[in-house]
Amino acid sequence: MSAVLAPEVRRREAASRIVLLGTGGVGRAVLRRLADLRERGLAGGLVLAGVANSRRGVRGDDLSPLQVLNPVAPLSRANSIDWVDELHATDGAGRRVVIDATASELVAARHAHWLAQGIDVVTANKLGQGGPLLRWQAIRAAQASGRARYGDAATVGAGLPLLRTIRALTAGGDQIASIGGVLSGSLAWLFDQFDGTRPFSDLVREARERGYTEPDPREDLSGADVRRKLLILARASGIALDEHEVAVTPLLDEVLAHARAEGVDAALSRLDAPLRLRLDAARSRGARLRLVARWRPGSAGVGLEALALDDELAHGAGTDNRVVIHSSRYRERPLVIQGPGAGTEVTAAALVDEVLDLASR
Ligand SMILES: NC(=O)c1ccc[n+]([C@@H]2O[C@H](COP(=O)([O-])OP(=O)(O)OC[C@H]3O[C@@H](n4cnc5c(N)ncnc54)[C@H](OP(=O)(O)O)[C@@H]3O)[C@@H](O)[C@H]2O)c1
Repeated sequence: MSAVLAPEVRRREAASRIVLLGTGGVGRAVLRRLADLRERGLAGGLVLAGVANSRRGVRGDDLSPLQVLNPVAPLSRANSIDWVDELHATDGAGRRVVIDATASELVAARHAHWLAQGIDVVTANKLGQGGPLLRWQAIRAAQASGRARYGDAATVGAGLPLLRTIRALTAGGDQIASIGGVLSGSLAWLFDQFDGTRPFSDLVREARERGYTEPDPREDLSGADVRRKLLILARASGIALDEHEVAVTPLLDEVLAHARAEGVDAALSRLDAPLRLRLDAARSRGARLRLVARWRPGSAGVGLEALALDDELAHGAGTDNRVVIHSSRYRERPLVIQGPGAGTEVTAAALVDEVLDLASR
């Protein structure tokens, strides 16, 4: 005779059990959003089973999101990654989900492993699919071989319908001919604001305070973050683009690039004079500065461009991302997707939407 479970226990067993990694800007916004959904009765089927940053974690049967904004207990394992495996070791009736709200190589390197264990991965961390080619291939293979899903909408465009559109086009037999994009919300905001009245370095500091830049703004200024996004978009189009195939022209010089973490803030002013020159030169031609990523067969690059005002990529304001896609279907006139592409709230919303979508399957 099978054991009779109390309704509450049955509900938990069938629920999606979530472990959240990362309690920075995005992770905390995820917790606030989960709390809000609970309050409004919209989080049915989601159970928060663990929350950890790189040092501490908290676990429970059904954690209250707002009470775990600051995990206090040391992790029961040496690191958060093994801790996820421990928390998700039991196979229940519901889905097991990891939300990756870190920028950690180590966490990204586990994505394929979790998928292979049947654990869904919902990620804002671009180092999974935007990292080494072999890692992307492992993630694809792990997805194809099991039932676990990979939610990556938050990795490019902070949830804008970019990846799903490209995948729908290619699934429908369309061939992507080129992708051009303003892919960094933080850099879009910086060059939208940069009119010469304030030094560029001042704007970078403000962007960091607003949560637009990566934790270390050099990730944005080096073009590394945009390169990852271009890799993710190209790979979603079915192109096995390798990291070294993307030519990146960074905004920062050697001194800023190699400054120690505590020296970055002071070294930011090295950006001011050269970028002011670029701004003046662009303006004298009636052009706008934008940090642009481009892919077409045989050529991929990231760099600052002075765009004529009628250029498809010259538009958009604030943190808007703008992506222009030419394909066999959109040959004459491109498909253009635009919208806010940075910020902890929109990124968290994209992550939670994907978890809800998984839970409904
Ligand atoms: N901010 C945005 O607008 C935005 C938009 C799109 C995507 N993203 C992406 O979202 C991710 C998070 O961004 P963020 O702005 O929230 O960064 P953040 O504020 O620096 O937070 C990162 C968090 O990750 C934690 N962490 C690092 N390694 C870990 C590990 N091994 N296990 C568990 N936790 C670990 C850190 O822990 P400690 O506190 O212990 O250091 C910290 O809590 C990044 O990949 C970023 O690229 C951000």
